[in-house]
Amino acid sequence: TDPALIRNFCIIAHIDHGKSTLADRMLQITGAVDDRQMRAQYLDRMDIERERGITIKSQAVRIPFTALDDRTYTLDLIDTPGHVDFTYEVSRSLAACEGAVLLVDAAQGIEAQTLANLYMALENDLTIIPVLNKIDLPAAQPEKYSVELAGIIGCEPSDVLRVSAKTGEGVEELLNEIVRQIPPPVGEAEAPARAMIFDSVYDTYRGVVTYVRVIDGRLSPRERIQMMSTRASHEILEIGVSSPEPTKCEGLGVGEVGYIITGVKDVRQSKVGDTITSLNRPATRMLEGYQDPKPMVFSGLYPIEGTDYPVLRDALEKLQLNDAALVFEPETSAALGFGFRCGFLGLLHLEITRARLEREFNLDLISTAPNVVYRVEMEDGTEHVVTNPSEFPAGKIAAIYEPMVKATVLSPSDYIGQIMELCQERRGDLQGMDYLSEDRVEMRYTLPMAEIVFDFFDHLKSRTKGYASLDYEPIGEQQAELVKVDILLQGEAVDAFSAIVHKDKAYTYGVEMTKKLRELIPRQQFEVPIQAAIGARVIARENIRAIRKDVLAKCYGGDISRKRKLLEKQKEGKKRMKMVGRVEVPQEAFISALSTD
Ligand code: GTP
Repeated sequence: TDPALIRNFCIIAHIDHGKSTLADRMLQITGAVDDRQMRAQYLDRMDIERERGITIKSQAVRIPFTALDDRTYTLDLIDTPGHVDFTYEVSRSLAACEGAVLLVDAAQGIEAQTLANLYMALENDLTIIPVLNKIDLPAAQPEKYSVELAGIIGCEPSDVLRVSAKTGEGVEELLNEIVRQIPPPVGEAEAPARAMIFDSVYDTYRGVVTYVRVIDGRLSPRERIQMMSTRASHEILEIGVSSPEPTKCEGLGVGEVGYIITGVKDVRQSKVGDTITSLNRPATRMLEGYQDPKPMVFSGLYPIEGTDYPVLRDALEKLQLNDAALVFEPETSAALGFGFRCGFLGLLHLEITRARLEREFNLDLISTAPNVVYRVEMEDGTEHVVTNPSEFPAGKIAAIYEPMVKATVLSPSDYIGQIMELCQERRGDLQGMDYLSEDRVEMRYTLPMAEIVFDFFDHLKSRTKGYASLDYEPIGEQQAELVKVDILLQGEAVDAFSAIVHKDKAYTYGVEMTKKLRELIPRQQFEVPIQAAIGARVIARENIRAIRKDVLAKCYGGDISRKRKLLEKQKEGKKRMKMVGRVEVPQEAFISALSTD
C-alpha cells in the first residue's frame, strides 16, 4: 500500500464514553463488516473485559474508506487498553499511530484517564481530533464541553466534532477528518526492516499472534526475523491484516499495521515495545521506548484445597503464555500452606488474573493482602528488594524506599476540600491545580503507590459522589519511614498477616488486625494472646479466652457411637484448620481476615 493512502490512528476515551461503539459504527459504515456479521463490540473479545466493560488488550483493525477526494484510504484503527495498570501498553499503541481521536461523552466531559492519555499522545506528537460523542442524549451539553476540550488542546470550540456512535450521526464526517487531518506515515522503504510490536496475544491454535506497525522497510512471509531486545530469531510463518477477521497478505510495508505468526508459544518471546528486524539485513538501532514489563504489586495466591497446588501451577503457566507482565514463584506460608507469590502491574491486573484462575481453571483461591515492592538498604551496605512483607530483613536498616506515583484527579470544584483531605491522609503532596472550566478542576499529586493502589479510588469516588476520576503513573521511588508490623498468635508470627506500613499507621493497623482476629478465631483449650508487634515491641494486644471444658469430657464413659460421631465431625472440621504453633485457626478466619471489606 502507498503510505500516502494510509492513516494510523487510535481512539482515546474514558471507559463508557463509547470507544467500542464508535469503532463498531466505523466498521459498519465503511462496509468492513456487514450487518449480518456485525455483533456489538467487535473489538472487545475477552469475556471478562466485556463483563466489566473495560478493554484490556489492544488490537488493530483495518478499515477501507473512500474519502471525499474519491480515493480509497486504508485506515488502521489501533485499539488501546483502558486502564491505568496498562499505561505502558497504551504508550506503545500510541507510538504506532500518527493521530488520535479524543472521544469524550457530551454529557460527562473529559476524565482524568483520558487527560493522561491525551498528554501521552501529545508527547508522541500525534495529531489530535477532538470529538464529542453521544450528542443524541438529552443530557448532552455539547456547547459547554466543546469549550472545555478546546481549552485543553488549544483549538477553537467550533473545531470540536460532534457525533453519535449509536445512531451513526457525524461518523462519516469524522472519517473524512481523519483522512484530512492525520498525516500519512513516513518511513524508509529501502532501509533495513524495523517494525514495532504494539500487542502480542496467545492463541491456542495459532500460537502467539504479534501485532506490528512497520516503520521502515518490509516484512514478508517465510522471512527470518530477529527480536532486537533479545536477538532471538524466528521465521515468519504467516503475515496478514485484521480486516477485521485475520486475512493473510504478501507482506507489510512502510506505515502498515498487521499481524505476524512465527510459531512461538509464549508472549514473552514477542514483547510489546520490542523492535522486529530482518535477520539477513538487520537494522542497527532499536526503536525507542522499549521497557521490560515490571510488576508493581505482589500478592500470595494459595489454593484453598491443598491438592489444587499443581493445578494452580499449571494454570499460572498457561496464563503466562499470554501475559508477559505476570510473574510468579513458589512460596510456602505457615498459615496458608503451598502457594505462589505473584507479581502484577496493578490491582486490576491482579483481579483479572485471579478471576481467570477461578473461572477458567475452576480453582478456589485465597490471596494475601497485596503489597508494593520495597527496597531496603542495610547499614552493612547490603540491599534487599522486598516483594513479601514476611521476608522483610532483620538487622540494622539504613533506609527504606517505596515506589511513588504521579496522580491526576479531575473533579467538580465543589469537592476540592474532600480530595485534599483524602490525599493528605494518604501522604500525598499537591503539585499543582488547574481549572479546566469554571466548575471543573485538575489536581496533581505525588503519592506513595502503596497508598493509592488498593482502596484509594473507592474512597475518592465516595467522597466526591462518584464525580472524580483518577489516573496515575509510576515515577520512581522515595525514602520513607516504614516499619514491618507482625501479627502474633501466642507469640508466633502469622506470616500471611505481616505488613509494611508507614510508622504513623502501624498502631491503627495493629489494633484493627488484632480485633478482627479475636472475632474470627474460636476459643481454644488455653488462652491465646493476639499481638501486633514491630520487631520485639508489642503495639497492640487482644486475648482469646480459654474454653472451660473439653468437648469430649462429657462423653467419657458415655455412649461410644456418639463419641465416635463427635470425633469424626471434629476431623472433618480439622481439614479446614491450620495450626499456628499450638493454635488451631479455621481457614475461614484467614480468608475473612485477608478480605479487604
Ligand atoms: P470500553 O471499551 O469498555 O472502555 O468502553 P467504551 O468506551 O468502548 O464504551 P462503549 O462503546 O461500550 O459504550 C458505553 C455505553 O455507551 C454503551 O452502553 C453504549 O451503548 C453507549 N453509547 C455509546 N455511544 C453512544 C451514543 O452515541 N449515544 C448513546 N445514547 N449511547 C452511546
